[in-house]
Amino acid sequence: MKLVFATGNEGKLKEVSKLFYDYNVEVISPIQLGKMPDIIEDGATFEANAKIKAEEIFKMYGVPTIADDSGLEVEQLNNEPGVYSARYAGEGCSYDDNNKKILAELEKYSAPHSARFVCCAVYYDGKNYAVNNGYLVGEIINEFKGKNGFGYDPIFKPAGYDKTLAELALTEKNSISHRGKAFTALRKSLIEKGLIK
Ligand code: IMP
Repeated sequence: MKLVFATGNEGKLKEVSKLFYDYNVEVISPIQLGKMPDIIEDGATFEANAKIKAEEIFKMYGVPTIADDSGLEVEQLNNEPGVYSARYAGEGCSYDDNNKKILAELEKYSAPHSARFVCCAVYYDGKNYAVNNGYLVGEIINEFKGKNGFGYDPIFKPAGYDKTLAELALTEKNSISHRGKAFTALRKSLIEKGLIK
């Protein structure tokens, strides 16, 4: 069977396709069906935003859809930036701007700066929903380290590692990531519900 993944991000598509490959599920991109529209993610939670994306793409193509929404929560910043992770330093800002803002905001707090990545993965087929979360816990360090990955990776050190996510190889990051955990749990839910074999 086919699932369409409501994302325009090639990296995410590859990572999630791999998780479903052994279950005879082909994960395709909306671009293969037409296009990935600009979707306004104005939900108050990761789950609300993931559902907005899944519903929109299901409405467009009528194919069972998976979607996700993710971000960083920093304990000392009252779990900010949360759903604002992509635009923490303002509309159109860069990853670098966001990272600098986090480090500036954390200057008045002492280390360790506990934080976690959250990913909410959703399935929608017009009738059934499935929702699963995945987490990656760790801390924000006071400097930029590493060149791999994206977003907050250079300032986030996963618990039990002495490297940032940006210093890990991509396969290693994917094996511990919030997204990997959320979609592995979603796959299990879909099997239990009989929605994939
Ligand atoms: P989205 O789920 O693609 O909307 O991600 C929202 C934002 O969360 C991204 O723009 C990043 O700033 C941040 N983010 C999500 N996942 C990661 C990750 O694995 N590493 C670093 N930043 C992330």
